[in-house]
Amino acid sequence: MKILVIIGSLRKRNTYKTVKRIEEYHKEYSDFEYEYLFLKGADFKQCTGCFVCISHGEDKCPLKDDRDLIISKIENADGVILASPNYVMNVPWIMKNYIDRFAYTMHRPKFFDQYFMILVTSGSYMGTKQASKTLGMMASGGKIVTELKVFNSPGMNEKKKLKQDKEIEKKARAFYKRLSRKTEHRPPFGFLVWFSVFKATSSDSKTHLPADYNFYKDKKYFVDAKLNVFQKGLIGMFTGMFKGLVKMGIV
Ligand SMILES: Cc1cc2nc3c(=O)[nH]c(=O)nc-3n(C[C@H](O)[C@H](O)[C@H](O)COP(=O)(O)O)c2cc1C
Repeated sequence: MKILVIIGSLRKRNTYKTVKRIEEYHKEYSDFEYEYLFLKGADFKQCTGCFVCISHGEDKCPLKDDRDLIISKIENADGVILASPNYVMNVPWIMKNYIDRFAYTMHRPKFFDQYFMILVTSGSYMGTKQASKTLGMMASGGKIVTELKVFNSPGMNEKKKLKQDKEIEKKARAFYKRLSRKTEHRPPFGFLVWFSVFKATSSDSKTHLPADYNFYKDKKYFVDAKLNVFQKGLIGMFTGMFKGLVKMGIV
C-alpha cells in the first residue's frame, strides 16, 4: 500500500516524528510503502495571486515547478497524509501556499477518489481545530478518513503522553482499515451543495471563468460516482436554487 505524506513543517521534528509513529504501526501490516514530501525544499513555488488557475485553468499556471508531479503522486497513492504543525491557530505559510496553489480545486473537484488523513501537531489545543479544517480543504471532495491532533506541550505528563500515543495508534489503524476496504465513495452532502453553486454559476461565466464553464458544461452531476436518486435530486435542487439566486443577483 502506497502512502504519500505531505509535510508542511519547516523542520524535521514533532510533525515528522508523529508521522513516523504512524508509519511504525502501519509497518506491522507489512505491505506499506511510505513516501515523504517535505514542502520545505520541494520545487514548489509561491503563488503569485494571478488567479489564472481558477479563471482559465490549472494548465495555464505560469509557475513552472513540480506541481503536476505532486498531483500525480497524490493520484497514485492509496492514501495521503496531510501533516502540518499549528502556527498561530492555523497552518504555517508553507502549507497555506500549498493549499493556495490548489485553490482551483475549490471551484472544480479534483481529488475525489483519494483517501486522506489529516494530522495537526501543536503545543496546545488552541487553534488545532481551525488548522485541521484548513488542511481538510485540500481534500476537495476526497474522503477524509480520519483527523488526528497531537500535542507537544513540554509540561505533558507520562499518563497524557501514553494516552496520546494510544490515539495515534487508533487513528493509524483506522486509516489502514479504511484503505484496505475501499468502497464506492459516496460524496458528502456538503460537497454536493458546494459544487452545485459552481455548477449553477458556471453557465454565466463563459467569459470571466472559462475554466469553470468548460468543466461543468457537459456534466450533469459533476462527479464520476454512482449517485443515488436522493443525491441526484439534491444536486438538481441546489443547482436550480443557486441559478435562481444568480438571476436575482444575490449570488
Ligand atoms: C511560529 C509558531 C507559532 C505557533 N503557534 C501555535 C499556536 O497557535 N497554537 C499552538 O498550540 N501551538 C503553536 N505552536 C507550536 C507548534 O504548533 C508545535 O510545537 C508543533 O508541534 C511544531 O511542529 P514541528 O516540530 O513539526 O515544527 C507554534 C509554533 C511556532 C514556531
